[in-house]
Amino acid sequence: MKKAAARAAMEWVQDNSVVGVGSGSTANFFIDELAKRKDFIEGAVASSEPTATRLRDAGIQVLELNETGDLSVYVDGADEVNDRLQLIKGGGGALTREKIVAAASTTFVCIADASKQVTVLGEFPLPIEVIPMARSYVGRQIVKLGGDPDLRDGFTTDNGNLILDVYNLDITNPLELERQFNQIAGVVCCGIFAQRPADILLLGQKDGSVSKVEL
Ligand code: 5RP
Repeated sequence: MKKAAARAAMEWVQDNSVVGVGSGSTANFFIDELAKRKDFIEGAVASSEPTATRLRDAGIQVLELNETGDLSVYVDGADEVNDRLQLIKGGGGALTREKIVAAASTTFVCIADASKQVTVLGEFPLPIEVIPMARSYVGRQIVKLGGDPDLRDGFTTDNGNLILDVYNLDITNPLELERQFNQIAGVVCCGIFAQRPADILLLGQKDGSVSKVEL
């Protein structure tokens, strides 16, 4: 299902362009597809160090976002997606760079298997990237917002920070909750992607087909 969605995303990859590439197992399938077109694209901007390594191993040039300017397309997976194409991301801990590359891209194509589609976001624990010295403070603020934070053990992000996975949140208003988390001092990034949702969702189905949802 992930592979089928990844393959379908190639329709949005233009010749001679720089492609934004996400992180995770679905994005890895996309890199496999992109590798087949490596001679026709200029390169890629990676949303994590593992993605950068995988792109280079596939023979795709990795470029810095500071050099490329805005991108035409960003392709990435998600942990959950609702019918407004708002997402929870960060299961792999790459949410901050993912949010940056998504923000800098004209079209965000989300690729996922059908199990990621939900009515209300929040069954998947919400990842929040936090500056290490603010860990306890941010945890207390999260409790005030109704969540149960859990430090991701032994994990450091590509930016040298920590991840709090937050359980039991009511995410019926993703835009507002994203705004509230963004205002807590010490929060680097919250895994709700509502201010910048996906533009297109490609969902791999069990029968091998891919359904498309467009905002
Ligand atoms: C990484 C992410 C991934 O997109 C998300 O965890 C989905 O992963 P997968 O494609 O392996 O199911 O946000 O930070």
